[in-house]
Parts: sequence; structure tokens; C-alpha cells
Amino acid sequence: MEVTILVGSQWGDEGKGKIVDILSEKYDIVVRYQGGANAGHTIKIDDKQFILHLIPSGILRRDVICVIGSGVVIDPQALLDEIKFLENNNISIKDRLFISHNAHLIMPYHKLLDSISEKGDRKIGTTGRGIGPCYIDKYARKGIKIVDLLNKPHLEKLIRQNIEEKNAILTKVYNENELDVDQIIKEYLEFDKVIDPYIKDVPMYLNQATLENKNILMEGAQGTLLDVDFGTYPYVTSSNPTSGGGCTGTGIPPTKVSSVFGIVKAYTTRVGLGPFPTELDEENGEILRQAGAEFGATTGRPRRCGWFDSFMMKYSRMINGIERVAITKLDVLSYLDEIKVCTAYHVDGKKLTSFPTDIAQMERVTPVYETLPGWKTDISNARSYSELPSEAQQYLSFISEQCGFEIAIISVGPGRAETIIL
Ligand code: GDP
Ligand code: IMO
Ligand code: MG
Repeated sequence: MEVTILVGSQWGDEGKGKIVDILSEKYDIVVRYQGGANAGHTIKIDDKQFILHLIPSGILRRDVICVIGSGVVIDPQALLDEIKFLENNNISIKDRLFISHNAHLIMPYHKLLDSISEKGDRKIGTTGRGIGPCYIDKYARKGIKIVDLLNKPHLEKLIRQNIEEKNAILTKVYNENELDVDQIIKEYLEFDKVIDPYIKDVPMYLNQATLENKNILMEGAQGTLLDVDFGTYPYVTSSNPTSGGGCTGTGIPPTKVSSVFGIVKAYTTRVGLGPFPTELDEENGEILRQAGAEFGATTGRPRRCGWFDSFMMKYSRMINGIERVAITKLDVLSYLDEIKVCTAYHVDGKKLTSFPTDIAQMERVTPVYETLPGWKTDISNARSYSELPSEAQQYLSFISEQCGFEIAIISVGPGRAETIIL
């Protein structure tokens, strides 16, 4: 039995979707553990591109059961759209998709409050999907859970109570119009009709599966530096993408976890605001953005691009307990004469001994770089380590040594075949 937590090791968009799809061939169950439709996980099969926001990236493998865990926040409309999209592509989800009764629902006021907050002077650059306000309600113990859909009078009461409170905030604090409570109740009752068959006691189901020796892959969304506790706060998301979130977001206890697998992009990207020490200048950032097609899978926003940061990666490895990794998008670096890797941070000329968690310090760090030779040749057809040019091998050895992890997979293109398994 193998229970693996798969985490994004940087600021998200590391290529988790592609690698979950590859790995899921060997797993019985794939379970998403946190976040919501802020995620965009891309899988490319032949000429077809699938972008998943809520449903686990194992869904394209017929024999894999996919589960949306307790730590996820679910936007009904996004979920219905995704189910329809899969059905239109002849991917059956019948008896293969389960949704935790504990997961929270994103409500229209969450999206509205997210967009209002982004217009203010404490903008984060969120995806606008209502993620932060939904987790706020969850921790304020005012959230509405999937299980509440099963009890109509209770659901209606909760929605009325919450909207009364939100309408007061919307009108008195933000000068906005009131929300139509009856319309919202109607919409959520409609949603319930579609979603009922998928609702399950997921913690019980997953623990039973471990007793039956099933292999389970936990799919994280976002990335380590976007973690609300360990990321570049306040420029983070409102959940725990780090490996600890795998247990709290599924109900599988830590004693049953076999390993933590990291997804590591061969360079760094970030969407939204916040510090990014190895960010390239506008001109070079644009060249890397074009080479890597770095535009958000959810919002289409251009991603900020920069060099690989092994100082940050060592922190990420420590927080998550990452042992083995997939290095993705190595092919994207093929145009470069020289490639830089950040190995340390300096502040006021002094070398930092640990990763800064205070934003003021993070904004002042100067990265220290090592420069490695580029390979200047197309590597997307390489299917084994020995087929990679020696400079690419040198780059991989350098980062694996610096960061202290073992490379298990090298991805040299978005497709399934463009993968080297070590
Ligand atoms: P995720 O959020 O971590 O699943 O990553 P995204 O799907 O948001 O972004 C990764 C992007 O890179 C997607 O467009 C993938 O199709 C693409 N991709 C994944 N692996 C590779 C790779 O090795 N090479 C290239 N060129 N593209 C890749
Ligand atoms: P995947 O799973 C990259 C970023 C947003 C913003 C911050 C907070 O595809 O890797 P939120 O809407 O969550 O409140 O936004 O987090 N962000 C992501 N960046 N990949 C993601 O997901 C992201 N999900 C959220 O850009 O900076
Ligand atoms: Mg993404």
C-alpha cells in the first residue's frame, strides 16, 4: 500500500496536473485536499488540453477513483461546469467521483467579497474565486458544508442567516446592493439535485481503502510559498497546500502516509502580488514567459518569471518533508546560453541562515547566484537521462545536490510521452 502526498513546491503552477496524471496510473484513488477553483491543473493528451479546477487530475484514467476531500472549498457552478466538460469529452464520472460531506461551499457573497477586497489598498492579486472569504467563514464557524445540502430546512436557515449578515456588511460597509436571498436558495437547491449522488463520508471511505491496501495519491493545489502558515504571508492563499494539509484535508492520518512527492518547476513563476527574489527583469521575464507559455490556467494572467531558487526550495523541502521530486519544464530553458540558480539570500550584505518568513525582510533580500552553462538544443524528444545533453544533466545534478532531494521524474514537454522516469 502506498499513500503519497503530492505537493507544489514553489508558488503553484509547477505542473502538478501533468504529473498527477502520469503517476495516477499506479494509484487506485486520487484525492484533492485543499483549495478550490483557484487552481488550474493542466493535462495534455495528444492534441487535447484538459484544465481541471476542482476534480482531481486522475479523472482521465478510467480505473482511478477521484475524491474531493474535506479541505476543499467548492464552487457549485465551477463543479457543474467541470462535470459537463468531462462528460462532453466522453469521460465518465459515474461511480468514480466522490465529494466529502465535510467540504465547504463557496457562496455568491464569497466571490463578491473577494472582488471588493481586491479593489482596496490591501490587494493580494487573488484569482477572484471567493477562496479567502469562504475559508474565513469556515474558521468563523459560519460556513455552509456539502452535508448541509442534505437537510433542506437547515440549508435554507443557514443561507438566510448568512445573507442577512453579509447584506448588512455589503450595504453599510461597502455601499453595495443587497443580495437576493430567495434566488440564492433556489440556486443551491438546484445544485443539490445534481450533487447528491456524489456525496460521501470521505474520511471513512479513504481509511477503509487503506485497510484494503489501496494506493492513494493526495493531490495538493497551489504551492508551498502560497501556504497561509508557511508562505510569503499575506501574499498567500487561505489554505495549507503543504503536506500537512494532506492529512487535515482528507482525514487520512499521518501514520498512514508513506511519502511526500514534490513538483518542482525547473525555474520559478508566481501569479499575483508579493515578493519574488529571483524574478527576472521585464525583457528577460517576457522571453521566459513566452518560452514556457506562462499564462494562468484559471485567470489567463501572465505569470511572473524568474530563476530557480534553491534557497527557497530547501525551505520547501523541509516544511513538506519532500524526498523525491519531478522536475518539470526543463525543455523551456533550452534557449538560454547560461542559466542562473539562486543558492543563498543576502540582507544588508549578510547571508541568511534560514528562509525569511517576515515580509519586510523578504522584500529586502538579494539573491546570490551560481551560473551554469545552457545546452542550447531541443530536449523535448529525450526519453532517458542519458539522452539529455551533459549541461542539462549538470543542471539537474546541481539543483538536486543543492536542495537535497532525489529526482524521480523529468518532464520535457506538456504531453504524457514527454517524460523521463528515472
Ligand atoms: P499546475 O497548476 O501545477 O497543475 O500547473 P499548470 O497546469 O497551471 O501549469 C503548468 C503548464 O505547463 C501547463 O500548461 C502544462 O501543460 C505545462 N507543462 C507541464 N509540464 C511541462 C513540461 O515539462 N514542459 C512544458 N513545456 N510544459 C509543461
Ligand atoms: P494551482 O493549483 C498559482 C495565487 C493567486 C494569488 C494568491 C491568492 O494551479 O497551482 P486566491 O484566489 O487563492 O485567494 O489567491 O494565490 N494562486 C495561485 N497561483 N497557482 C495556483 O493554483 C493558485 N491559486 C491561487 O494568484 O496570488
Ligand atoms: Mg495551475
